[in-house]
Parts: sequence; C-alpha cells; structure tokens
Amino acid sequence: MSNLDVIYQRSSIRKYQDKAVEKEKIHEILKAGFAAPSARNLRPYHFLVIDDKQLILKISKLSIGKKIMEGAPVVIAVLGDLNINSTMEFVMNDTSSCIQNMLLAIEGLNLGGCWCGQRRDETDKMNAKLLNLPENVFVSGYIALGYKAEEKVQKDRFDEKKVHYNCW
Ligand SMILES: Cc1cc2nc3c(=O)[nH]c(=O)nc-3n(C[C@H](O)[C@H](O)[C@H](O)COP(=O)(O)O)c2cc1C
Repeated sequence: MSNLDVIYQRSSIRKYQDKAVEKEKIHEILKAGFAAPSARNLRPYHFLVIDDKQLILKISKLSIGKKIMEGAPVVIAVLGDLNINSTMEFVMNDTSSCIQNMLLAIEGLNLGGCWCGQRRDETDKMNAKLLNLPENVFVSGYIALGYKAEEKVQKDRFDEKKVHYNCW
C-alpha cells in the first residue's frame, strides 16, 4: 500500500477480534507516534500501552469512547507532558499529530483503531490516579486498537466549498 492508499483507506474501527496484538506491531505503532512532528521538536508526550483487561474496563468508564475501549484488546493512552512544553495548545497539537500517525500505522499494519477523545474535566484527576501519572502529565486521548472485526470504506470527502486560495 502506498502512503496515500493508507490515508484514504483508514476509517475508525470500533469492533475488534478477541485476539492479542503482537509486540512487534505495537512497537511499530509507537515508532510511528514518535515520528510525528512537534513544536520545536520537543516531543512533549509519553505512550502508555494498556493490555490489562481489568484496567481497560476501568479507564473506559472515564472516556467518551467507553463502549469502543471496552472491546479492545489494547488501548494506548497518549499522554501530554506539560513539564516538557508548558503551552497546552502545543501539547494538544503535538499529541494529536502522534495519534494520527499511529492511526495510519495501525491501518498500514492491517489492524483497526479508533481515536477516543478525552475531555479536560474532572476525569483528568481520575485518569491520573488510575494510571499513576506524574504531575502535569495528562491523557490527551486514547487509541483503541486490535484486529478488525468490521470492514469500512472511506468515502471521498473532498469538498471544494471548504477550499480557499489566498483570502477567504
Ligand atoms: C479528537 C477526536 C476524538 C474522537 N473521539 C471519539 C470517541 O470518543 N468515540 C468514537 O466513536 N469516535 C471518536 N472519534 C472518531 C471520530 O468519530 C471519527 O474520526 C469520525 O467520525 C470520522 O470517521 P473516520 O475516522 O472513520 O474517518 C474521535 C476523533 C477525534 C479526532
């Protein structure tokens, strides 16, 4: 598959086979995360790979993607680290670019994944406690992943009306 094929084929996969994902594949996904661009190349993030079923069930309750995470053999918590870059906007941008790279790697490895958003609210503290996070480290988002138990085709979303040249 070419890079562009992976981009156009990727869809959010929310149903997974009950099958473990090989360590080598997880490593490749993490490597793709580390390859993402970040402001001043500070890479203000950490990745927490969660494959403990009980822990997945607990963290899923704190996420808006509860149902999806519950059924996933692996969940990766993408953590923003404000000790490395104290500007929240940049940390959110940087962790988001990691997540997208990782979703593309997941598709490229013939696995399926879904970005599960995390709100900046009282669940922050609960997540931090549950995952034993250090000070100023927070869950930017979760990625649920596994072998696909559903197939999806992405439609062409190109929208001329949303493309502007020079001024709006
Ligand atoms: C910041 C963010 C948070 C998301 N959170 C969720 C979520 O909690 N639950 C969910 O089912 N999908 C979630 N998604 C996936 C989107 O619903 C999905 O990307 C969108 O519907 C487009 O579909 P596609 O990914 O198949 O192209 C999230 C995506 C983003 C970018």
